[in-house]
Amino acid sequence: MNIANKTVLITGANRGIGRALVDEALRRGAKTVYAGTRSGALQNTDPRVTPLTLDVTDLAQIQRGVDEVGTLDVLINNAGIAIYDDLSNLDVIEQHLAVNFLGMLKMTRAFLPLLRRGLVDDDSSRPESNFAFYLEESALVTLGVCYERVPRFGGGAYHSILRRLEEFSSEPLRSALKVHEKRATMVLDLEERVAAVVKKLKERGLVSPYLRSFVVARINPLRWIKDEPPPLEEVLKTMRERTMKFNVEKIKPQDLAGAAGPPDEI
Ligand SMILES: NC(=O)c1ccc[n+]([C@@H]2O[C@H](COP(=O)([O-])OP(=O)(O)OC[C@H]3O[C@@H](n4cnc5c(N)ncnc54)[C@H](OP(=O)(O)O)[C@@H]3O)[C@@H](O)[C@H]2O)c1
Repeated sequence: MNIANKTVLITGANRGIGRALVDEALRRGAKTVYAGTRSGALQNTDPRVTPLTLDVTDLAQIQRGVDEVGTLDVLINNAGIAIYDDLSNLDVIEQHLAVNFLGMLKMTRAFLPLLRRGLVDDDSSRPESNFAFYLEESALVTLGVCYERVPRFGGGAYHSILRRLEEFSSEPLRSALKVHEKRATMVLDLEERVAAVVKKLKERGLVSPYLRSFVVARINPLRWIKDEPPPLEEVLKTMRERTMKFNVEKIKPQDLAGAAGPPDEI
């Protein structure tokens, strides 16, 4: 990963791996390294290093960090604890969750807008495919936009469809993002219609935690396509039409027996 001229924030930077990460980021030419520590103190005099008082369990300190940092390219959630103790002790488990899980979640949620801005403002003329390392899968960008708009969205049911039909584009990231946003609108529109079908199935007394996955699997045309599939937009349109024709009266409890999770891998 190339972090030359980038702005990096590392939590738990006063010792151990965090401290080594600060040194490595500087060695690789980072422009600014924000070093988060609980005490605010740091033994590093490099002018590119800015110490931040940052306990990752403290939302007020996190927010102050967001205000101070302004723009960010890389966030390293390094801070963590590993108390080897009696794991029947709930206090110890809660401490681990507070730092290692919730701390990381709070940091990521708070700094996400800065990371997004850093990516889009600075680098958006580069092809989306150049970002494959960060973004992992093209489908995850579309799902990410869905989650951003509707935090309670359940993307699992649609992931295999998007994954089969989306790939990283050679268009600039700026334009590729617009395409993902358009697709996300279509997915969310479809999801609304799927939710309406699920509601009707429930009203008929059908109960299963997998009703949504069942409906999505039923309307998914890719199940029958072995050759080159149509473009995603076309598939989503077909699925949307199928939700409107979905006859809930025909579904029997035994039809649900095989539906135990998101649609099978395609
Ligand atoms: N070393 C390993 O073999 C290993 C293996 C697997 C995973 N890890 C994980 O990798 C990370 C770094 O490991 P390490 O060996 O460098 O650990 P370490 O020497 O124990 O350092 C942990 C760092 O996290 C900071 N920290 C703890 N709670 C915090 C909080 N609430 N807010 C902000 N900072 C907090 C500590 O700050 P204070 O100095 O103020 O306590 C310290 O800087 C940890 O998350 C660890 O669990 C390490």
